[in-house]
This record gives sequence, C-alpha cells and structure tokens, in this order.
Amino acid sequence: MSATHDSGDPTTGRDDYRDTGLTFPPGFVIGSATASYQIEGAFDEDGRGPSIWDTFSHTPGKVWNGDTGDVADDHYHRWEADLDLMQELGLESYRFSIAWPRIQPTGRGPALPEGIAFYSRLVDGLIARGITPIATLYHWDLPQALEDEGGWTARSTALAFAEYARIMGEALGDRIAVWTTLNEPWCSAYLGYGSGAHAPGVTSPEAALKAVHHLNLAHGLAIEALRPVVSNAPQYSITLNLHVLRAEAGSGASGADAVRRIDAIANRAFTGPLLHGAYPADLFEDTASVTDWSFVQAGDLEVIRQPIDVLGVNYYATTVVRHWDGVSPRLMADGHKDVGGSPWPGADDVEFLPQEGPYTSMGWNIDPSGLLELLLALHEEFPSQPLMITENGAAFEDVVTLDGADGAPRVHDRLRVDYLQRHFTAAHRALAQGVDLRGYQVWSLLDNFEWGYGYSKRFGIIRVDYDTQDRIVKDSALWLRRLIAGRSIPPTDGFA
Ligand code: FCB
Repeated sequence: MSATHDSGDPTTGRDDYRDTGLTFPPGFVIGSATASYQIEGAFDEDGRGPSIWDTFSHTPGKVWNGDTGDVADDHYHRWEADLDLMQELGLESYRFSIAWPRIQPTGRGPALPEGIAFYSRLVDGLIARGITPIATLYHWDLPQALEDEGGWTARSTALAFAEYARIMGEALGDRIAVWTTLNEPWCSAYLGYGSGAHAPGVTSPEAALKAVHHLNLAHGLAIEALRPVVSNAPQYSITLNLHVLRAEAGSGASGADAVRRIDAIANRAFTGPLLHGAYPADLFEDTASVTDWSFVQAGDLEVIRQPIDVLGVNYYATTVVRHWDGVSPRLMADGHKDVGGSPWPGADDVEFLPQEGPYTSMGWNIDPSGLLELLLALHEEFPSQPLMITENGAAFEDVVTLDGADGAPRVHDRLRVDYLQRHFTAAHRALAQGVDLRGYQVWSLLDNFEWGYGYSKRFGIIRVDYDTQDRIVKDSALWLRRLIAGRSIPPTDGFA
C-alpha cells in the first residue's frame, strides 16, 4: 500500500485528521449505504406485510413529527434512477438491506415473488453498473407477526430468520458479494427492548438481554443456512456498532470499572460469542439480578461462532462514562433518544457524560480518533479478522442554494465534507498501522427516515426533497466521487 502525506509522519499526520493526498490500496472498496425501511416507502405494495417499524412509527408520540416510512424516499419506485446516481458518483459498492416483510409478509411461509423480483432487479442493476452488492438481511424491519409471538425475545424468531436467510440465499446467492446477517444488533436488542426508543418499544432489561442472545443465535443460524445454498463464494459478515468507551478524566479505578461494565453489555456481549465462542463471565455477573441467562441453550455457542470473512464496523462518535454517585441527577448523554427506559440492563449505577464538541446535528461528538482507536483495538483483539467500515457519516442542517449551473440547486455541505475527510484520514491511518481494513461505506447515500428522529436529520450525500422526491447531489457526494476516482483523499476545496 502506498501512502503519501501532506504533513508529518505517515502514521500520525495532522492532529486534527485533516490530511489530504492519502491513497487507498486497490481492493479497498468505497461506496455508500442505506437501509430498506429508511428509503423504500411502498409500505403496503406487492404484498409487503407490516413490520415493527410500521407499527411503531404509526403509534403517536414514538417518532418526531409523526413521521413514518410509508413513502420515505420512494426508492421502491425510483431505484433505477438512484442506481444511475450511484454510477455517476463512481461508487464501487452499495450496502443495502432487504425488507424481510417484503419477502415473507408474516415472517414465515413461502416467499413473495414480487419481493424477490424487486431485490433481484436491484442486484442486477448494481452489477450492470459495476457496483458491488453488499446485502444486509436484517436492518430492523422485523415482520410484525413475529413480534406478536415475542419478537427477538423468542427463540423461534431466530429459527424463522434462518429460513428467511435460506430463501434469500437461494434467490440471490449467485450474485451477492457480501452477506451481512444483522445490522447493529445492539440497537435491535437494547433500543428495541430495553429503552424503548426503537421498535417494538419494549422497556424490559430482561427482554433486552434475551434479544441479544436470540440475535446472536440468528446470525449463526443464518450463516449456516446460507452456506449450502449460495453458489458464488461470497463473504459472510455481521455489522456491529461497537462503543468506543472512555472513562471520565481522573476517575481512576472507578471510571475504569464503569468502562468495563459498559464494554461488557455494549461490545463483548456480541464479540464474545461471535468471535471468541463464549459470553464474558463478567457480563453474567453484572446482569445476575436481571436474568440467569438460562435462555442460552446447549450448542448455541457453537452455532453463533461462525468464521466470518469481514466484520462490519459502524462508527459515529465516542462515549464517556463514570460511576453515578446515586444522588446527583443521573447524566445519560449516551447519544440515544431518551424515552424513559434504559438501554443498559444491570448498569443503573453508570452515567454517561456530555462530551467536548464539535457536534453533528444528532448531538454526537465528532472525533475521528475514536474510529482509529476502534479499528486498532479490534485488530489487536482479533488479528486475523478483516474489517470493513460499513457505516460512517454525519447529519447536519443542510441549506439548498440556487447557485448551480443555470440556477440549479446545490448543497454546499462543507461540514459533512470535513467530517468525511477526517474519518477517511482515520481509516487510512489504521491501514498504515497494519489493520486489515477492506473498505468504507458512507452513511448514507440519501437523506432518509432517521428512525425516532423521522425526517428531521439528514445524513445523505444526496439530498431528498420530500415534497417532490427530487434528488440533489450534495458537495459531499462530489467530494466522494473525486476520492474514488483518484483513490486519494481530496482537498476540501475545488473538488466539485
Ligand atoms: C445507525 C443505523 C443507521 C442510521 C445511522 C445514523 O445506527 O444503522 O440505520 O440510522 O445509525
């Protein structure tokens, strides 16, 4: 791998991560990501069944402004034009997710041909444009009928997921390059069943931990189901949102223990069984008052620990913790919407501190050093495990100006360009320090339905006008196009 820097030592670079001219090796796949419920719309077309996010978003008070994914970016109808935009930007890959309820409306039974046909056309369209398809089987849109049977708190959901994985493997298993089983099971389990900020909106610490295990099991079962039916030697993967944890400065042993506690719930509850073959003992001890973990059955850990070809890493911000004194108002600046319940089962004596800015419009702190730290830590713990950044990006208050050619609308999203420059720099530093990093998928291709925040947060490198469904290529997309074309981090001026 060749690396050129405009400043200083090739592995350290500038303190603020604003390096330019760093080159990425061939084979480092640069693209963008989306998820089905956030962009597709067409919520009741071609037999699609309701998902937990349909139910949740239609429940008053759950999503900002009462927004729903009913129409979203109307990508279900506009997919071809969206693929053309990807091609114009030169994207090498596209990470999308498959809506389970489009395939099996109730989560069980025969596949709907219309649902299969939609994703089959999409994949063919990607391949025809030279874009590598990276498919996620589950990005949170669980069929509501399965939730009615307990959702991820029920073992049967993991078994149903394996059957759905087999169906998709049979349908697309000659063309998908990377199969990702789950996106961020942390969110599915802890926000879905612990804090209630996400669908299905349950607030039970025990339910959250059951969901953790059944999601891990679903991952293992899905890979077992895919392997015999696919025909093109794909890569297998799971995407995790591992938390980059820091103790409050000067908090000593007590801060270190708070980090250990949250690391067990947030990170090792997944990496333990997935990559080491066991849940960490301290996780069981810390959560003993919540559950005895008897839902972990004999043989489960063997199923969960599947060799994976690439571990997906989603990174946005860092987290600072300390022990709560039990007297002062408890600080809960963990970056997630506070709706009353806790996403941290068994950790009621830990608090989450506000961090130094700058911030994105999600209120998340911008800290590219956290990405480098995370990649280095994973490389150290799992030296032979290839990694891919499957999400990184930022929401800002974009402004449309009419200063393009002939007064065409433009979005000069300098803050997003700056964010991406700094995080691509961090990724490059990880590569330079020996991390086996295979690619980078920017979140997100399009502005979209940002879960509990509805359409109020714009993460896209392409703007979506929700009244007209017009797309406007933002400056960040033009910057990314330049990066991909030159395989080198461009300056943040003069790239358009
Ligand atoms: C991640 C989700 C993705 C998007 C980004 C901002 O947690 O996977 O769908 O909402 O955050």
